[in-house]
Amino acid sequence: MIPISKPAIGEAEKQAVLEVLESGMLVQGPRTAKLEERFAAVCGTRHAIATSSGTTALHVTLLAHGIGEGDEVITTSFTFIASVNSILYTGAQPVFVDIEEDTFNINPALIEAAITPRTKAIMPVHLYGYPCDMDAILDIAQRHNLVVIEDAAQAIGATYRGQPVGSFGTGCFSLYATKNVMCGEGGMITTNDDTIAEQCRLMRSHGMKRRYYHDMLGYNFRLTDLHAAIALAQMERLAEFTARRRANAAYLNAHITSVVTPAVRAGYGHVWHQYTIRVDGGRDRDAAVRQLNAAGIGTGIFYPLPAHQQGYLRAIVGEMTRPVAERSAQEVISLPVHPQLSPTDLETIVAEVNKL
Ligand SMILES: Cc1ncc(COP(=O)(O)O)c(C=O)c1O
Repeated sequence: MIPISKPAIGEAEKQAVLEVLESGMLVQGPRTAKLEERFAAVCGTRHAIATSSGTTALHVTLLAHGIGEGDEVITTSFTFIASVNSILYTGAQPVFVDIEEDTFNINPALIEAAITPRTKAIMPVHLYGYPCDMDAILDIAQRHNLVVIEDAAQAIGATYRGQPVGSFGTGCFSLYATKNVMCGEGGMITTNDDTIAEQCRLMRSHGMKRRYYHDMLGYNFRLTDLHAAIALAQMERLAEFTARRRANAAYLNAHITSVVTPAVRAGYGHVWHQYTIRVDGGRDRDAAVRQLNAAGIGTGIFYPLPAHQQGYLRAIVGEMTRPVAERSAQEVISLPVHPQLSPTDLETIVAEVNKL
């Protein structure tokens, strides 16, 4: 089976972990500080704050922006559930705007109609590593005085018109095992705002600036140095990983003819966390998945049910339709695009997909 994802763990990662174990400094130590520096450099931000996961990065970021009960946050329902749950943790309400047909990202043309006096923030999700239309989103945010919190969990290294994602608003990244840069579990917040950075730093570690003196209600959302060491080794290879993903995606786009392949937009520096095709025209997506799996091609469905249709959320946000998100959930299949694919793997994927 050609797996849908495969963490690239080499000698550098193993050695890095052993060094941390021998150092005796296991949590939020020098490797975490170094990883924060590297992230800030890649994203072009003044600050980067490591957390225990992408979910806790989003949670702390929303809190740091003062978002809570009575507030609304605009996002999409075609995302991993953490985008939505992080909003709910704060007591705020998620407001779902439908997505664009070709990028699967929030449709900026629909955002203004969703703004109410309670709206505090827009949370664009750079889904699959594809940057959102940030010019349009920033323009709306500015005119309505809204905060922008980028869910960049899947998009480390992506750029929009040459500018790194995570630097347009407050950025939140995930280092979960399948991500382009990973360490098992981990997260990162990026920002140019000194006050937000300070709030996030305090909140990730029980509101503590001076040892055992607590300035606010905080959490244990710290990253361990074991994880930071793995992610640091991965960051060294980010450029190489991204180049390989881009080359793999270009090959698939050039050779797949049987289904709708991902759109490529000028100025959008996609990092291909996922390569996602659309099995459209009423064809049976699940049969296509079975056929591909039987031929040894790993697949993923990201995501089979939009957030607004999840049982527990229906009770919170009410009944609604988001037609593009709903149809996408029925039609998408993600194919392997990770850096470890061989030329033969790519040929096999194309041959089998073109039989659909
Ligand atoms: C779009 C999106 N948002 C948020 C998250 C949450 O990240 P984590 O799994 O590290 O908590 C993920 C990752 O799984 C994600 O894909």
